[in-house]
Amino acid sequence: MMSTLLRGRTLSFLRWPETIDDHAAYAYQEDGGLLIRDGKIVAAGPYAEVEKQAGADTQRIDHRPHLILPGFIDAHVHYPQLQVLASYGAELLEWLNTYTFPEESKFRDAQYGRRVARLFLDEMIRHGTTSVAAYCSVHRQSAEAFFEESHARNMLNIAGKVMMDRNAPEGVLDTPQSGYDDTKALIGEWHGKGRQLYAVTPRFAITSSPEQMEMAGALVKEFPDLHMQTHLSENHAEIAFTCELYPQAKDYTDVYEHYGLLGKKSLFGHCVHLSEREADALSDSGSIAVFCPTSNLFLGSGLFDYQRYRTRDKPLRIATATDVGGGTNYSMLRTMDEGYKVIALNGEKLNPFQSFWQMTRGNAEALSVSDRVGTLNAGTDADVVVLDSSATPIMKLRMETVETLAEELFLLQTVGDDRAIREVYVAGRTAKSDLAG
Ligand code: GUN
Ligand code: ZN
Repeated sequence: MMSTLLRGRTLSFLRWPETIDDHAAYAYQEDGGLLIRDGKIVAAGPYAEVEKQAGADTQRIDHRPHLILPGFIDAHVHYPQLQVLASYGAELLEWLNTYTFPEESKFRDAQYGRRVARLFLDEMIRHGTTSVAAYCSVHRQSAEAFFEESHARNMLNIAGKVMMDRNAPEGVLDTPQSGYDDTKALIGEWHGKGRQLYAVTPRFAITSSPEQMEMAGALVKEFPDLHMQTHLSENHAEIAFTCELYPQAKDYTDVYEHYGLLGKKSLFGHCVHLSEREADALSDSGSIAVFCPTSNLFLGSGLFDYQRYRTRDKPLRIATATDVGGGTNYSMLRTMDEGYKVIALNGEKLNPFQSFWQMTRGNAEALSVSDRVGTLNAGTDADVVVLDSSATPIMKLRMETVETLAEELFLLQTVGDDRAIREVYVAGRTAKSDLAG
């Protein structure tokens, strides 16, 4: 049996940190140890204690003085949009038509998909992200390419072929029947294979006909433990067009509700402009609102009201995500930095413990995978990130005046990026230092 013992400053969350002084919300060890065997965490705690459980054949890796955390989780990202990143000057619908759909049409070519899937997952690892909920393109082979690459790396990823049958160019359209058939075939082939999880993925109401929405609802009913992911209430033009296309619906959320798409494993990207009724419907069903700050800012979509959603009478479950290519950076550190600013514009603050909870355990809970990833708990998969708070000259200088863990985390979030990612472990194996180049 292969075992590895990591040494460093370990940090893992036990629950949502209510305040910046809520030290009972996390476990932090100044001299911590993490013992990993066969891809799983078998012990975490003070190094001196954990070390006792290591064997003579245990590989020992000393990461002091760096921080050891659970790997970051990105709850909404489009893998085929690697080359859409940084496309100028458009709001959502124009951006989709001008840049996104033409790029996604290239994924008809399986070889192209494989190349981008490889580059995409390299990028995730480089940024300390060990799990994503990913949208593929409409093409079945794009999802196959993603899962093949993800499985080869033994990553826990959730993904799905996008279902879209109207209001887009021919090259990115399926039909209600082919969308259903391809999704079902992919579920059979990939869901539960190794660490792979399938998400039924109707892109959004604008690009799915009522017939296709029926099919998506049928799949969710047939496979109730699968995730479902889509977009909801991102910008005003999108909302208006959706209401025109579905005139019987009470509102945008009601379209998805009508087809049985709300639920505890349903991930709704954006949710920027929800009415109280819509927020209640999401809350009642246990659905998840996914906050995509860099994307909402870049496309000018609006300000997600994180603290209000979290504390309303019927609170929302919230995840955070990059949403690249609408989003502008693959780093969850950069994402939470922009998230902090959005929340500040709404007159609130997110403290650094809350931010780091969100990108680890919080996102794992929102994705219903916290029994497997998102903490350093014994028995979970060893997906781990090692962070260097002095990775750049300015960070190193600023660290001279940092006195508390909260200050250090806030520095990492505010100026940190991929340069702060020292190492990444996926199911116990080094992943970042193994990347080519
Ligand atoms: N709504 C439907 N498709 C997309 C997409 O690819 N990106 C974003 N940001 N919103 C969408
Ligand atoms: Zn998206």
